[in-house]
Amino acid sequence: MKSIIETRFDFPGQTAKYTGKVRDVYTIDDRILVMIATDRISAFDVVFPKGITYKGQILNKIASRFLDDTADIVPNWKIASPHPMVTIGYKCKPFPVEMIVRGYLTGSSWRTYKSGARTLCGIPLPEGMREHEAFEKPIVTPTTKAEIGAHDQDISKDEIIRTGLVSREDYEQLEKYALALFARGQEIAAGKGLILVDTKYEFGKLGEKIYLIDEIHTPDSSRYFYAEDYKQNFPQSLPPRQLSKEFVREWLMENGFSGQQGQKMPLLTDQVIDNISKRYIELYENIMGTAFEATPYDDAFYENMEACICNMLARL
Ligand SMILES: Nc1ncnc2c1ncn2[C@@H]1O[C@H](COP(=O)(O)OP(=O)(O)O)[C@@H](O)[C@H]1O
Ligand SMILES: [Mg+2]
Repeated sequence: MKSIIETRFDFPGQTAKYTGKVRDVYTIDDRILVMIATDRISAFDVVFPKGITYKGQILNKIASRFLDDTADIVPNWKIASPHPMVTIGYKCKPFPVEMIVRGYLTGSSWRTYKSGARTLCGIPLPEGMREHEAFEKPIVTPTTKAEIGAHDQDISKDEIIRTGLVSREDYEQLEKYALALFARGQEIAAGKGLILVDTKYEFGKLGEKIYLIDEIHTPDSSRYFYAEDYKQNFPQSLPPRQLSKEFVREWLMENGFSGQQGQKMPLLTDQVIDNISKRYIELYENIMGTAFEATPYDDAFYENMEACICNMLARL
């Protein structure tokens, strides 16, 4: 099984390289970013030593498509996607918060609720909610963007504004953008028989203007259910079939790992990797409505990628 878990390029004009959990981010002339979605996978903020075949291509193609399909709502950083694993765009100054929008009480929000909490990031939650139940309307539950190696922390809108992480004016704009993007995401998903359950957005500034940055509506940043399945299962308190990384998180928790200090990361077996890869492909085909055509990892893969990127950079 083959996967791409690292890249080592030196592009003309390259001024920095940042290795994120999943993506390799090259800065060109302090102005442009070349973002390569690798096959790395992270869960609970830990990166696994093995990659998931084709995950990077899947992620990049989905994000790239939905950046285009939401550009009428908020300007975004994308300029072009010159290769299945690559998006090139404007480097922005990121806001130090991640905007999470939730339509349903699922995943970490359910774990918090189950433990007895009745507010989430300052938002009061009604008594008696069940796992996977829809909120009356989608809620925004921001987190701080943690420094490398640390976990993102839940934070309330009031605290973000009070501590000056984001000005009130900007934050309220981010909130509006996030909810409008989520509504669009839900609409697109519904057209494919899916439910967009929750997702995460990042924003930044270019000059005085707010841009959507990073990835959007991918299986790494979002959770999806099958709509039909949800309709059948929820009334019977059965878990809906999920198209997301929650599958990986659950497998990890069953194997005694939830990202806490001192815990040992279980080994991803080839079978687990294959399973995860299949889930990513399944999500791609559902959400994009087309068969996934992989770009094979042949000997010329890196060379081709480099040529595609350099050709595009020469035109910018
Ligand atoms: N247009 C942009 N301008 C500046 N930073 C960006 C932009 N788009 C994405 N980023 C940042 O690039 C990184 C993407 O790589 P990722 O693997 O997600 O890293 P991380 O481990 O930091 O989440 C993120 O830190 C994200 O905030
Ligand atoms: Mg990230």
